[in-house]
Amino acid sequence: MLTDRFARRFTYLRLSLTETCNFRCTYCLPDGNDCASHDTELTAAEIQRLVRAFAMLGTRKIRLTGGEPSLRHDLSDIIRLCKQTDGIEQVALTTNGFRIQKDLPKWLEAGLDTVNVSVDSLDPSAFARITGADRLHYVLQGIDQALAMPFRKVKINSVLLKQQNATALPAFLRFIKDRPLSLRFIELMRTGDNGDFFNQQHLSGELIRQQLLADGWSQCLKSVTDGPALEYSHPDYAGRIGLIMPYSKDFCADCNRLRVSSLGQLFLCLFADQHQSLRHLLQDDNPQPLLHWLQQAILGKEASHQLQQGFSGSTRHLAMIGG
Ligand code: GTP
Ligand code: 5AD
Ligand code: SF4
Repeated sequence: MLTDRFARRFTYLRLSLTETCNFRCTYCLPDGNDCASHDTELTAAEIQRLVRAFAMLGTRKIRLTGGEPSLRHDLSDIIRLCKQTDGIEQVALTTNGFRIQKDLPKWLEAGLDTVNVSVDSLDPSAFARITGADRLHYVLQGIDQALAMPFRKVKINSVLLKQQNATALPAFLRFIKDRPLSLRFIELMRTGDNGDFFNQQHLSGELIRQQLLADGWSQCLKSVTDGPALEYSHPDYAGRIGLIMPYSKDFCADCNRLRVSSLGQLFLCLFADQHQSLRHLLQDDNPQPLLHWLQQAILGKEASHQLQQGFSGSTRHLAMIGG
């Protein structure tokens, strides 16, 4: 079992499959082209060894992230190998939705359990402005397709931006009236590359929270294995609203996740100052050296990411590390 100095247990691995992305979200990769190229990414064989070692240490859920993970041609194979690893109970994917309509049946067949899709606005031109891709209609069709399939859960991510979508709540509420999905508003996080943008656009999730409470939404009970979102439900809505508020106090207290980048670097936190490469331990089938290495590495995890103090660690943008 992976347990840190603060008695937090790590049962959830976020594995980035690529740094590359075909979208250019203003808060993430506005003009970013300094992503590592495909030929340096972990291979499926390396991923298999990695996932097996994490599963032996108690990992039960793997979320595949990026960049945009669906840009990997072997995504279905990776989903399948994760799902077939002893101990792994859930395989999840976070995607920008670009390939969702075309590839969803393949992902489901490979064993994908849940999917999170980014939708920063329900207005087609605002969506295109934020993401650099005029694809809203297509992404929304893909989400409806996912809802019609036997996925365990479908979630939407929408980053709160002061000037762009802060007034978009009514449209999002109409969207989830009859759709049983979780729509999460995420507070914009400061990264190494987005400091000025952050200063102009950061909006506290507390404003949305107050509005929801005033409109009859109530907070759902949270279990220890749930992620960082606080969820709210309302009897008139099939969907739920989630708030991901990394700037609020105690956000890190029940952290259950570790991250490995597409280059095979372990990040103990999204905003860690340092990362350590474990790739050399993925070159043969003996898991013991990696198991030992991970048990030592976890002891270096800090209590909190200190975002409140303006800390952004070595993370230039979240595509580097998979959010
Ligand atoms: P599940 O709990 O598995 O549904 O995942 P999630 O909601 O954490 O995953 P997703 O990839 O959809 O991420 C949503 C947002 O939460 C992204 O902006 C992530 O960067 C952010 N996030 C996820 N985990 C953490 C965390 O440990 N710390 C911080 N600061 N942000 C996180
Ligand atoms: N702050 C908050 N969320 C971000 N994401 C990417 N960059 C940031 C940031 N700086 C979100 C994306 C995606 C998820 C994986 O992370 O919108 O939904
Ligand atoms: Fe790509 Fe996701 Fe970053 Fe947007 S937020 S540029 S979709 S990695």
